[in-house]
Formats: sequence, C-alpha cells, structure tokens
Amino acid sequence: MTSSPDNGPERQLHFGLMFWATGTHPGGWRFPGAKADGAYDIEFIQATTKIVEDAKFDFLFLGDRLATDPALAATNPAQMSRLEPFVAGSAIAAATSHIGIAVTANPTYYDPYTLARLLASLDHLSKGRASWNLVTGADAIAAANFSRDEHWETEKRYDWADEFVSTVRGLWDSWEDDALVRDVTTGQFVDPPKVHSVDHHGKYFDITGPLNMARPPQGQVVLLHAGTSDRSRELGAREADVIFAAGPNIETAKAYYADIKTRAAAYGRRPHEIQILPGLQVTVAETTEEANWVRDQLDELRPKVVQAVDGQKARAGALGSQHMNPDKPTAFPRGLVGNPTEVADYIERWFVEEACDGFNVFPNFVPGAVQAFAELVIPELQRRGLFRREYTGSTFRDHLDLPKPPNRFAEVPQDLVLGSAAAG
Ligand SMILES: Cc1cc2nc3c(=O)[nH]c(=O)nc-3n(C[C@H](O)[C@H](O)[C@H](O)COP(=O)(O)O)c2cc1C
Repeated sequence: MTSSPDNGPERQLHFGLMFWATGTHPGGWRFPGAKADGAYDIEFIQATTKIVEDAKFDFLFLGDRLATDPALAATNPAQMSRLEPFVAGSAIAAATSHIGIAVTANPTYYDPYTLARLLASLDHLSKGRASWNLVTGADAIAAANFSRDEHWETEKRYDWADEFVSTVRGLWDSWEDDALVRDVTTGQFVDPPKVHSVDHHGKYFDITGPLNMARPPQGQVVLLHAGTSDRSRELGAREADVIFAAGPNIETAKAYYADIKTRAAAYGRRPHEIQILPGLQVTVAETTEEANWVRDQLDELRPKVVQAVDGQKARAGALGSQHMNPDKPTAFPRGLVGNPTEVADYIERWFVEEACDGFNVFPNFVPGAVQAFAELVIPELQRRGLFRREYTGSTFRDHLDLPKPPNRFAEVPQDLVLGSAAAG
C-alpha cells in the first residue's frame, strides 16, 4: 500500500469494467460460454454487473457511439449494436446497490438541461452512483445522424463542452440539498428561497433554470472524461474525477499521468482528487499456459477480413476505430496475458510507479473473462493491500474518497432567489 504525497487518503487501486456485452475481443462473442445476444439481454447485463460489484469494483463503464456501421462487426461487434446507455444504466441501477454506473454522453449532441436531468435522474434512482463519461466524440459521421452539416473541429467541440459542463453543474446545484421540505405536519412541501435560477447566458447556451428536480444525491454527479488532445487534457484536469486514458506503454502512461496531475494542481486540485485509469486488455487464467491457450483460441475466433461493401469503406474510416482497417486482417492488441501473479505484478508496477491509479478492465469475452479477473486477480490485489475488500460507502463518490461538494447557491443573495419579491 502506498500513501499519497500530499497526505490525502491512502492510495488504493480503482477499477472499472468496460462493459461490451460480447467482449472487447472481436472473437469474444464466439468463445464458449459467451452470450452472442447479450447486448439486448438485461438479465445478462445485470448479472455481469453483479460479478464486478461482488468484487468491489468502483464502476461499470457504458461507452457509447452515435453512429454505427455493419463493417464494425469484424473489428468491434460490441460497439456496432447495443442499448442506449441511460436506459441500460437505469436497469443496472435497479439490480445493484453499490457499484458506480458510468454513462457516456457526448455534449455535442445533447442539450445541457436534458442531460443534467438525465444524469440527476440516474443519480436519484441509483442512490448516488451515477457518473457522466463526457466525450466529445470519435465519430465524424455522427453529425449526419443529428441533422448537422459537419463534425465540429476540436476547438469548437471543446469550447461547447466547457460551457456545457459548467451549465450542467449549475443546474445540479439549482436546488439546495434541503429545498424539498415535504413536512406533512405543516404542509410545507418546498422552501422556495432554496430553489435557484442559474441564469446562464453564455456563447452557446441561454438557460434560466432551475432544474426540475432535487439536487442529485452526490451533489455533483461523478465526471469521467476520455480524450487525448491538449484541450481534452485541460478539460479533464479541471473537471474530471476520473480520466479514462489511453496507455500504450508504461513510459507514455507515466508522462500522461504526471501531465494531468500537474495540470490539475494548477486548478487547485490535489492528486487524489483525480483518478487516471488506462484501459487494461487482459487475459488471465490459473496458469500462464492456460492464459496463452485462451488468447490463442480468441485469435482463432476473430474474423479475418472485414467485408467491405458499398460505401462501408469510407464510413469505416470515418468511424475512426483504432482496430479498423477494411482491407487487412484485423490487428488486435495482445495485451496482457498471464497467471494471477503476473497480472497482479503488472498492475502493481503501473500503480506504484504512478503510471495510473487503477484500470478500466477490458474483458475479452463475457462473462468468463470478467469472472476470471474477479476471482483470480482481485483476491491477489487484496492480499497485497492494494484494493478494497469491502465498500466503505454506497455512492460512487464514496468509492473515490470524494466528499459531496458544497452547493454554490447555499449563501446566495436574496435578490437572486427564485420566488423572492424581486423575482416577482
Ligand atoms: C480511452 C478513450 C475512450 C473513449 N471512449 C469514447 C466513447 O465511448 N465514445 C465516444 O464517442 N468517444 C470516445 N472517445 C473519443 C473521445 O471522445 C475523443 O473524440 C477522441 O479522443 C478525440 O478527441 P481528442 O482529440 O480531444 O482526444 C474515447 C477516447 C479515449 C482516448
């Protein structure tokens, strides 16, 4: 166990599960025991989530894309066709009690009021376990699905996202925590001075507020962010509680880690207030030989060539998948393959050398690879004192050791209060 340099809480690993129902390996859906139709089977999705909740994972990660193409079937079938994440997240919340639920939403194609409401609703339904994975979108062709002429360039997407997130945060604060009185004796339902307009008038948004629901249980819903550009790093360092990073090797990951923590410090944030979690493509089994055998089987099962048919080549390029090349056999990263000790050694090294604060685990097939990680790797990390044995709280913020933020309106001047004489 390592302690944090600023004497924050003792450093512990954090884990998310990248939930792609048919696995993150393109051949995963064909692996024995996998469920080829799992993407639309809510009992299956709930049961898989329970595996990682029992293993005390921090969160389940529901990625999303706003465009698709049948050509993805050969490279990334789980991303080609899946449930809308808020709908799936609500059903997952109903079947679980502790695990965080991260839902991906691209602000470019949302409205702040709608998204603030969706996320607050999920936070209420889950009793404080909602999280927003803010992405600005990898899919240029999404624009064509949302009546837009073009995919905005990076600067505009991030200008929009910056204003968007501050607006959403304002809306979440528009009700003070004790605004809903609901006193059956006195008949007082609400305390109007504790419900605030946000009066946001910016470059992109004009929003009066308040939000039409009570403040989320977490106060501010946990914010995840995924991206690589300078603007992405800046947004993440300022706003994100968790950064989902690309980490091709430990040296790159260490540089990225140091960069984000330094940028975060410039915003007055301490290192433990922002967790950096690269993806971990892992195949683990009791023995190294068995793990290699599983990995070889998966490679045997992966589709060899993408069938490029009318128009799909161009669209495949626009989808921008790192695994996508319509003309060649799919190249899939081999990732980490080993027995529990080897996998735990790898994780511990990255953690101790500050290349990461944990990982977003990519299971090659579901549920088998999820079970293998939960049953073989997690106990080893617990033995080493690197990962929790029990949840110490019930909200996602609790798992991240983050307190509920104060409400910005709690001390608001009377003339800004909705329902006051000034507001009529
Ligand atoms: C690790 C990682 C995960 C991502 N997950 C998603 C996703 O689920 N949906 C999505 O639309 N974009 C996703 N993206 C893409 C980002 O939203 C972004 O469009 C991309 O990284 C390019 O923007 P950037 O230049 O700011 O990094 C992801 C990016 C990274 C690095």
